[in-house]
Amino acid sequence: MADNILEKSNEIFLPGSPIKNRRYLVGREQEIYDLQRTLRQAGQHAIVIGDRGVGKTSLVKQVLADKEYNDVWRGCEPGLTFNLAFRDLLRYCGIDFRDSEEINETTVEGGIKGSVFVAEGSGKISEKHSEKHITSSLTDITSWDVFKALEKFSPKRFILVLDEYDAVHRSEYPHLFHRKVAYAMKHLADHNDKCDSRVVVVGVASTSAELLGKHESIQRSAREIYLRTLKREHILDFLETAENDIGIEFEFDVKMSLAYGSLGFPYYVHLVGLECVEAMVSRDRKAKKVTLSDFERANINAVEQAFRSQLSKYEAILYISDPNELAIINTLALIPDLHPKREALKKYVAELYPKILGAKYESALNKQTQEKRFLYMSRRNDEIRFLDPLMKPFLRDRILATNQYITIKVFSLIKETNKAISVDWHGNKIWLPKSQIKINKKYDNVFSIDVPGWIFRKNLLSIK
Ligand SMILES: Nc1ncnc2c1ncn2[C@@H]1O[C@H](COP(=O)(O)OP(=O)(O)OP(=O)(O)O)[C@@H](O)[C@H]1O
Ligand SMILES: [Mg+2]
Repeated sequence: MADNILEKSNEIFLPGSPIKNRRYLVGREQEIYDLQRTLRQAGQHAIVIGDRGVGKTSLVKQVLADKEYNDVWRGCEPGLTFNLAFRDLLRYCGIDFRDSEEINETTVEGGIKGSVFVAEGSGKISEKHSEKHITSSLTDITSWDVFKALEKFSPKRFILVLDEYDAVHRSEYPHLFHRKVAYAMKHLADHNDKCDSRVVVVGVASTSAELLGKHESIQRSAREIYLRTLKREHILDFLETAENDIGIEFEFDVKMSLAYGSLGFPYYVHLVGLECVEAMVSRDRKAKKVTLSDFERANINAVEQAFRSQLSKYEAILYISDPNELAIINTLALIPDLHPKREALKKYVAELYPKILGAKYESALNKQTQEKRFLYMSRRNDEIRFLDPLMKPFLRDRILATNQYITIKVFSLIKETNKAISVDWHGNKIWLPKSQIKINKKYDNVFSIDVPGWIFRKNLLSIK
């Protein structure tokens, strides 16, 4: 029974791997429709963007799983060139490029000699076969070459997916790469009557211009599809489906903690959700209900795992950050606002860490946003967030899982009973059990309250 539960939950909770079964892809009806519509419209390409781990690859995979599409994928990495990326993509389509003179078909437009070799039949060609030609392909292919190569296959249409496109920013000539992609889209759009293949670019960004720069042709022939974080009700839907399919139950508070604590990132829900089931089974192999204490144990493991995998590259920055910088980082993790303005964050920091004021705050913030780039400040509206937004839910859990006390400042006690008080903290009403906290009165109506981390976290989780 327990083995069955574990097996099933490993099929449903997939931290780090895109959704395979449409049943578990929640809250994306509109975006699925938008991508399908884009691919139906003549000559339109798609740029799928959103925060890291928000579900971009899952969405594109689900849509392209439809039989009518022939999709080929190339994940990008730092240092990748347009030439390599598109040679690979075309090779997966069954088209190989050769540069030697004897090849019969030579393209003229674009100025560079490039030639097209169409592999026998269509579809995939063998690795052995492809290697033979790739070694001789030193000349850069142009955007026009890409169009001409795909045209060879018409009316068969391919969807060329460039995933993890944000990695191109760490290539030697990212602008050249972007421009060539823009032109490939343009040629395919302009000559859609001859070839209906499309390009789908997927990457972490908040606008398509941030991902690919500003190009008129992209504005005209590509549609931007932006993925927001998931809504709480969708996460609850996902958890309900998981409960039904696995044959277990999550306590109501566990579902709420997952939905609120994730801040809408499905990766969090999958990672902590899976750990919850494991924690339940290791507590009692016959158990069928995940309790809050299973969740608490699961959460500690999940946070550790996240810092070992997705967030590992930031661990080193945390080690080399000084106490003032850490104070800003911790504050940003703890507060309810996702993207506080510079001044708002300063107020929160002054409250949680009263010694970090003025120049100390500014200098620590600069180090984090400019030197270490752990934090990101948007130029347009002065908002501050973690460079990797997944940092916030996991770091918040890591800080608050400890028995450490947090000192908050409140301006009035709203209500007091024998056992608890309720206070207004930055416009959020929170309840604190008197036996667990220490209230220090400062002046009339100003209190500083020492609250254990886990109680503070419980309150944060219920803040809208
Ligand atoms: N709509 C969804 N409903 C439920 N779970 C989802 C949904 N979308 C994605 N997931 C899950 O969230 C996690 C991240 O998904 P995915 O890899 O597709 O995101 P991504 O945006 O491509 O991430 P990255 O920026 O790292 O490439 C995976 O565990 C995936 O199974
Ligand atoms: Mg992805």
